[in-house]
Amino acid sequence: SNRIMLGPLVAAIDQGTSSTRFLVFNAKTAELLSHHQVEIKQSFPKEGWVEEDPKEILQSVYECMDRTCEKLTQLNIDISNIKAIGVTNQRETTLVWDKETGEPLYNAIVWLDLRTQSTVERLINKTPGRNKNHLKTGLPISTYFSAVKLRWLMDNVEKVHEAVLSHRAMFGTVDSWLIWCLTGGKKGGVHCTDVTNASRTMLFNIHTMDWDPELCKYFDIPMEILPKVRSSSEIYGLMVSKSGPLTGVPISGCLGDQSAALVGQMCFKDGQAKNTYGTGCFLLKNVGTKPVMSDHGLLTTVAYKLGRDKPACYALEGSVAIAGAVVRWLKDNLGIIQTSTELEELAADVGTSYGCYFVPAFSGLYAPYWEPSARGIICGLTQFTNRSHLAFAALEAVCFQTREILDAMNQDSGIHLSQLQVDGGMTSNRLLMQLQADILCIPVVKPSMPETTALGAAMAAGAAEGVSVWSLTPEDLTEVTSEKFEPQINPEESELRYARWKKAVQRAMNWET
Ligand code: G3P
Repeated sequence: SNRIMLGPLVAAIDQGTSSTRFLVFNAKTAELLSHHQVEIKQSFPKEGWVEEDPKEILQSVYECMDRTCEKLTQLNIDISNIKAIGVTNQRETTLVWDKETGEPLYNAIVWLDLRTQSTVERLINKTPGRNKNHLKTGLPISTYFSAVKLRWLMDNVEKVHEAVLSHRAMFGTVDSWLIWCLTGGKKGGVHCTDVTNASRTMLFNIHTMDWDPELCKYFDIPMEILPKVRSSSEIYGLMVSKSGPLTGVPISGCLGDQSAALVGQMCFKDGQAKNTYGTGCFLLKNVGTKPVMSDHGLLTTVAYKLGRDKPACYALEGSVAIAGAVVRWLKDNLGIIQTSTELEELAADVGTSYGCYFVPAFSGLYAPYWEPSARGIICGLTQFTNRSHLAFAALEAVCFQTREILDAMNQDSGIHLSQLQVDGGMTSNRLLMQLQADILCIPVVKPSMPETTALGAAMAAGAAEGVSVWSLTPEDLTEVTSEKFEPQINPEESELRYARWKKAVQRAMNWET
């Protein structure tokens, strides 16, 4: 047959909150050759609870790999050219499984989950403000991070409790679960995570770059259940035979999805930043090789460490819990749209929210507020308000939340970003992009290849020692072509709308108290 000669290829597994993807890139050109995507079910067993099925997550990875390999074969591309696989994932989501049976002991508790709210409030009262823990982890105590979810599992799920006592329990975020399963599971799977994922647990010391015995004691977590922490770019293990044509391919890249997007957007220099619009919305700014603490509600987190002997780089992060999730809510819960793409048309019909403001604080408010008791509100309604206005207000909410984060970043550093690099699913919504430029009063720049998260994981995997098919030296990096959205409304109008948004946020705060 006429096989196409392309040189080395690198694949990435992108396991996000709402969907799983498998993508294959050309290592020389960074071109995306083929991919497949599968949606992931979320369950909400109680108010504020969010769970996913670990086995479904794993199955979705296998399905995406199979389908992508089929597509490559149809394109006459030889699968044996895939030299490495990178993993990137929804961060913080917490799993515990039995290392002898390989069975998950409970559903994955998703990062958005609020069941630990009372625990968190108790801990905050015990150790308020920017305490020693915060200085070590770079994180405020919040329902968002893994340690409290793991604590909940140990306290409330008998099977987890027993497995811990009998030394059979393994804890991991989604990266660890996938790598363990894909490298053999109960028959010798590798139990590891990378520094970026570890830095989201509240158990990891971002200065020593290792699990912290004092933090583990504080949350009463036995250290033996934790995965080994590795760099974001090194060979962790090889794919086992269940993986069909990919058997034997090294898994050699691992990054939390927001870190991967920073790499994929080539933000390697101090001061470079990106904002990703996924289920949530996450603005990360590279701050270089020394961690910087925020005075304005941002997180300090590990950006990447691209090799065992390479230095770690840190980032300041503004996390917004609800972005794309509000679109899914309008679709699944209110039924005012059938598909996500309809939202843009609906909002474009009116081009204004007509004074309606929508604060989607479904999981409390994250940065810069860190208020778990906030709840969503829609205000400013009149007889005139219709679903188009609501759609517009939902899009505007995503933009206002990003503005709050950008303001905090600017205040922290004193240096104002002159434009914002963006990526993620929602960036295909052109109305949203224009609205974002209008509300930030700076240009918004979107790369023409939207899968930057997967690209970052592929780059890390391809650059790993022992693989070395992808060069990360600045001269070798492919230039990203992009599209720019310039602000079109006047700054006064933008400020006025932003001031109203802030008022709406105040009403969403402390809802239950
Ligand atoms: O911290 C959560 C984040 O990693 C989830 O990303 O893209 O699934 O919204 P995403």
